[in-house]
Amino acid sequence: MKIATLQITFLLCVALAITGCRETQTDYSVNSPDGHIVVDIALSNSGQPYYRVNYKDQTVIDTSFMSFDFKDLPSLKDNFKIVNTATGTFDESWDMPWGEQLSVRNNYNELIVNLEEQSEAKRRLSIHFKVYDDGLGFRYEFPEQPNLNEVLITDENTQFNLTGDHKVWWIPGDWDIYEHVYNETKFSEIDAIAKQNHPNLSATYIPENAVNTPVTMKTDEGLYLSFHEADLTNYSGMTLKVDHSNLDMVSELVGSERLGAKAKLTVPFNTPWRTIQIAERAGDLIESKLALNLNDPNEIGAVDYFTPMKYVGIWWEMHIGKSTWDMEGSQDMSTWMEGKEGGTRHGATTENAKKYIDFASAYGIRGLLVEGWNTGWDKWISNDREGVFDFMTPYSDYDFDDVRDYAKSKNVEIIMHHETSAAPLTYEKQMDQAYDFMKSNGINSVKTGYVGKIIPRGEYHHGQWMVNHYHKVLVETAKKKIAVNAHEPIKATGKRRTYPNAIAREGLRGQEFNAWATDGGNPPSHLPTVAFTRMLSGPIDFTPGVFNIKFNEYKESNQVNTTLAHQLALYVVIYSPIQMACDLPEHYMLDGKIHPAFQFISDVGVDWQQTKVLDGEVGDFVVIARQERNTGDWFVGGITDENEREQSVSFSFLEEGKTYDATLYKDGADAHWDNNPQDYDIEKMELTKASDVTINMAPGGGFAISIVERK
Ligand code: NOJ
Ligand code: CA
Repeated sequence: MKIATLQITFLLCVALAITGCRETQTDYSVNSPDGHIVVDIALSNSGQPYYRVNYKDQTVIDTSFMSFDFKDLPSLKDNFKIVNTATGTFDESWDMPWGEQLSVRNNYNELIVNLEEQSEAKRRLSIHFKVYDDGLGFRYEFPEQPNLNEVLITDENTQFNLTGDHKVWWIPGDWDIYEHVYNETKFSEIDAIAKQNHPNLSATYIPENAVNTPVTMKTDEGLYLSFHEADLTNYSGMTLKVDHSNLDMVSELVGSERLGAKAKLTVPFNTPWRTIQIAERAGDLIESKLALNLNDPNEIGAVDYFTPMKYVGIWWEMHIGKSTWDMEGSQDMSTWMEGKEGGTRHGATTENAKKYIDFASAYGIRGLLVEGWNTGWDKWISNDREGVFDFMTPYSDYDFDDVRDYAKSKNVEIIMHHETSAAPLTYEKQMDQAYDFMKSNGINSVKTGYVGKIIPRGEYHHGQWMVNHYHKVLVETAKKKIAVNAHEPIKATGKRRTYPNAIAREGLRGQEFNAWATDGGNPPSHLPTVAFTRMLSGPIDFTPGVFNIKFNEYKESNQVNTTLAHQLALYVVIYSPIQMACDLPEHYMLDGKIHPAFQFISDVGVDWQQTKVLDGEVGDFVVIARQERNTGDWFVGGITDENEREQSVSFSFLEEGKTYDATLYKDGADAHWDNNPQDYDIEKMELTKASDVTINMAPGGGFAISIVERK
């Protein structure tokens, strides 16, 4: 155990006899280093463990019980005694190989409560708490023991007993997909079942009134809470079942019909950490590194084969219907159905790839993603998807070697694409060879995809079986020195600390929904909500940068519901070590020249020394400043929802005594996400630490600033 000071305190029941511990066990408690968070743990009269969380003078989680149900075994619930406890304190800093900041402080107090069932079997269970200044995590540890070996968990019942009818930003506890619009309701109004059967989701299953994590809340007292999990390994993803009348949530693990249970484990094992972030300022939720700290340190060594980068791709043109993934021209993305008019509209041709390479190399973009380069796309949305994709064979109009050599000559790095169409067994069969094929062609990163219902049937994207598949991909790619950007992934739970080849993922309703969703796309409030919910779990491959906001020439039914300046701001607001400039090269040109606003995309950093959330309110707006590693340049991004805002930005984060040259990209005077989304202005400014600037954000708008020290 990596604990700096670990004092084992044997607090036997006998020693506490005066307080009557057999009946209502004395509380054990552990507090955060700053003393503001206090977690109490005790046993009920029936011997069931429970915990409670206080922040300053408020109870944020009231008495919340814990238990497990198993198939063919009695539940682990009552009749426990506390055998002993262990406490410890840890304070250390570690460096991120790439990230939102270089150095992360990992400072907590911990308490391990070792329990034993007072039965013949004397089954044992430990509950391990780590309490930080920004929240807490706890997990269950099943130690090796004579009378518990293999378990089929039918339910983990971890309660989160709320103390009010908080405002909640939630998506349904879907077992297959996180690509839902966030809802903002009172806790008592959460209705996940009403979100079933969305026509644009390639797979969806919402069996309970439950929410997915991270789920963020605001109390009437103005405190922010966010619930999630850390280090999800060999276990099922956790949704939180909602009980309106008791204002209570209980863990509901994603199941498997093949297993007839939620998870299958062999003792000894640890569950993922159940986490609760607590913050007085919404922005502190974003700055918190709680989930990362709860994961183990890097186990795969240096990831210098991966360089944080911006990339373009043969991608958006398929989503807006200009071209197709398949050479046969038989697929239509917007309906997820077969049968669009035929003809050759294949996007991934040699010639088209070269066009993107020319653009990337001319305007400072390092990477190129090519989707639809390999065979199998004509059947990728069919019912029988096993064995459909081939991860080594290019379509005949895509000269793989020629494109590879051309990219190399222009200093552009190709990003591999592996769409599995949710047939992971087909992928597992080919992955070894497919990764070798990548490496022998100088390709160091892969975007994976899992569109559709999982084959074999009875498994879900977020269940243990798929958690193990996603993990296997990380392990196998790490061996070959490959970085992974997963779409339709399992949620991020901080594993990028242990496996820093896990560079980014989707796992939310991305930009693509603006292209083809039949419900009007992502509302202007989408990303001001995502920043305080999904983004708390880790990097997002959102693919910002649409300039042709109304899809002129392509689609009348859809558009992006933000202004152009909002799109620019996303390069700072949404964190990812890879950021796509997703629009078509021709949409970044104006009158034969590069669009003036593209300068921001060329300049903006992707790897950060430090990050400061300057202002924000969940679902309304957010302003973030990030300092680039190596150059020391600063970038600021601000976005608003459908409401116009006057945002004052203080530059007190700049260094004393220095002068900076800044370029501000902002909404034009008449900008509006719907009526006039492409109206923007560019303004040059001189800034110092004392500067304070007021910037107007249009409805659905935003701003982006690049700041360079004057030398
Ligand atoms: C869905 C992904 O989110 C998208 O980025 C990709 O283009 C398609 N699947 C095809 O793989
Ligand atoms: Ca997707």
